[in-house]
Amino acid sequence: MLANLEETRHVLIGESPRTRQVIRMIEKLGKCRWPALLLGETGTGKEVVARAIHNINPQGPFVTIDCSAMVGPLMESELFGHVKGAFTGAAMTKIGLIEAANGGTAFFDEIGELPLDLQAKLLRVLQEKEFRPVGSLTSRRSDFRIIAATNRDLAKEVEKGTFRRDLYFRLNVINIRLSPLRERKEDIPSLINHFLTRVGGNYSLTSEALEVLISYDWPGNIRELENCVQHMVAVNSGPLLHVADLPSNLQNHLIQKKSNYLMAAAGADAGMSRQDFGDLSTEPSSVPTIVPLAELERRAILNALDCTKGDRAVAAHLLGIGRTTLYRKLKEYELAC
Ligand SMILES: Nc1ncnc2c1ncn2[C@@H]1O[C@H](COP(=O)(O)OP(=O)(O)O)[C@@H](O)[C@H]1O
Ligand SMILES: [Mg+2]
Repeated sequence: MLANLEETRHVLIGESPRTRQVIRMIEKLGKCRWPALLLGETGTGKEVVARAIHNINPQGPFVTIDCSAMVGPLMESELFGHVKGAFTGAAMTKIGLIEAANGGTAFFDEIGELPLDLQAKLLRVLQEKEFRPVGSLTSRRSDFRIIAATNRDLAKEVEKGTFRRDLYFRLNVINIRLSPLRERKEDIPSLINHFLTRVGGNYSLTSEALEVLISYDWPGNIRELENCVQHMVAVNSGPLLHVADLPSNLQNHLIQKKSNYLMAAAGADAGMSRQDFGDLSTEPSSVPTIVPLAELERRAILNALDCTKGDRAVAAHLLGIGRTTLYRKLKEYELAC
């Protein structure tokens, strides 16, 4: 059991109080077979947590049932199986996922996508441990622990009538809410290290690149962070990963960050120069400060060069302009050195 707990800490990376609390919950839940409901945005680690709960004291198989991937009339047969000849194309009897999970854990991912008729059938399995394959006249048995996950607000779905209240109560015995990555940024450095170690090699990030990754909001959560690290490793040319290796969404974020910074700096500078020139207006703050566009552009270029330590190719990339345009502007503003 201890080895499995160590394993949980090994697969579930994060230092934040929230992540540590989740690890404690996994530890408790793993020792019993109660249902669990995992809540959180996509990419926050719901499947990782479900597997970790199962692996604390593994019994039987872990079967993932992705409700968002099953569509149409075949959904019922995917879940409950069918007998030979049950419908056109049912050439052989087939076991469904519910039966495959017997004795183990069934992880119902995106359970909010399950249509109402199948919700009723699932409830019956949970209560009676019984179900009927499509086209069969006899019931079969399956007994499993259920872990369900959703990024929807199931309580609201219940109010709307799109999710069965009785099934909701059955699933929501214990719930674990996984915070979005933007609310637990302390986890970012250790997650990056984890993903870098996993790809092998001896990679590390420049402090500037790390700063950009920490300041980003990660709408795709840990999955997006993992993809970003993989992208940086794939495009880089040495063991040190730079801002220039960031994928385009992060580059855009960097440009936005820099332009916000520049706008703020430009406003502050302009305010200062007005005082320097002895503006005696009684209400200086009510007059909007206008900074000439050319001046903003000049400062943006200087800042980009400063930030890339003079690397013009990367500076041009950050500024969103071609290299030749940058050279022309350097000449124009007499910044060429
Ligand atoms: N705490 C974590 N530590 C390490 N990797 C994680 C963690 N949480 C998520 N991941 C990784 O992020 C990706 C998305 O996780 P997943 O469990 O599929 O999210 P969800 O089911 O919420 O969409 C996976 O590749 C997973 O390995
Ligand atoms: Mg998932």
